Amino acid sequence: MKTKNLLFLAAPMEGVCGFPWRNAHASCFPGTDFYYSPFLTATASRAFRKREIRDVLPENNGRLHLVPQIMASDPGDFIWAAREMSALGYPEVNLNLGCPSGTVVRKGRGAGFLRDPEALDDFFAEVFSAAGHGEMSEIRISVKTRIGVADPSEGLRLIAVFNRYPISLLTIHPRTLRDGYKGPVHRDIFREMLRQSRNPVCYNGDLRAPEDVGSLLAAFPAEEYPQLTAVMAGRGLVSRPSLFSECRGGARAGREKLREFHREVLGNYRAVIPEEDNVLFKMKELWGMFGEEFPNGKKALKRIRKARRMDEYLAAVNELFSGE
Ligand SMILES: Cc1cc2nc3c(=O)[nH]c(=O)nc-3n(C[C@H](O)[C@H](O)[C@H](O)COP(=O)(O)O)c2cc1C
Repeated sequence: MKTKNLLFLAAPMEGVCGFPWRNAHASCFPGTDFYYSPFLTATASRAFRKREIRDVLPENNGRLHLVPQIMASDPGDFIWAAREMSALGYPEVNLNLGCPSGTVVRKGRGAGFLRDPEALDDFFAEVFSAAGHGEMSEIRISVKTRIGVADPSEGLRLIAVFNRYPISLLTIHPRTLRDGYKGPVHRDIFREMLRQSRNPVCYNGDLRAPEDVGSLLAAFPAEEYPQLTAVMAGRGLVSRPSLFSECRGGARAGREKLREFHREVLGNYRAVIPEEDNVLFKMKELWGMFGEEFPNGKKALKRIRKARRMDEYLAAVNELFSGE
């Protein structure tokens, strides 16, 4: 696979890819260039939630390169949040234009912002006129977007808006808000947006195995599509954490490596969450995707899901890692 100069990015995954997972992943599986944080909401209150800010504190992300993601629809709120991230030392912030959750969309944020390309244009005009000045002079602004609300061809209207601004990286998940996370990605619209993009582009969606990355790169060869500079994986990287190491020529993680990774994630959660129940909840959320790496472990996975105490949980995990 020709991956020279290609960046490998870990997607923001609310509830799963917080700093405990990220640190364990970065230490066990080298090869991820940047990790995107789950979104921090910027509102008129001009304060982040404690849980959100803790996730992006540099001291909690020492072993990796992090890009904080911001959810906002008001340019002033976004600029405030970007300055806060710049003050923490981050050179890039990412705008979320993809979240399909009802509460977010109703407020015109996330993928809900894509309903109104003119408002988005005004938002960018204000944000980018602040960028490059004062505390915003050092910060790059990247965007993570879907291709529209209902009709994939909305992507063509959106790319015209994005092209008016120096977005440092435009990550495109080629599904509409209505598509959710299922169904085929709209590769044809992605191709057209990629062709037209004046900004560097990252592809995101359904990359689950090295072969998926290989076939993407074969479909969009660097000579013809030089704007494609990065790939991002979310569910694929959670279920198969060695995905990017494999793309770079490494081996697929075997049971012992996965066991070590699990031990690190669990240890990281236990270090920051005092209540055992809450640690179990987080681990079970992870297993929802990570469990796919164990097609023969259905029985043990069921025991993991049902575990009520840490000792039951650990016994089930041990059974999974020791079984066939
Ligand atoms: C549980 C979950 C949480 C997510 N949280 C975020 C988020 O905070 N910000 C964001 O931009 N996308 C979020 N996403 C979307 C992913 O980043 C990604 O775009 C999507 O899953 C498609 O890529 P994949 O097929 O590689 O997973 C989330 C997706 C899932 C399934």
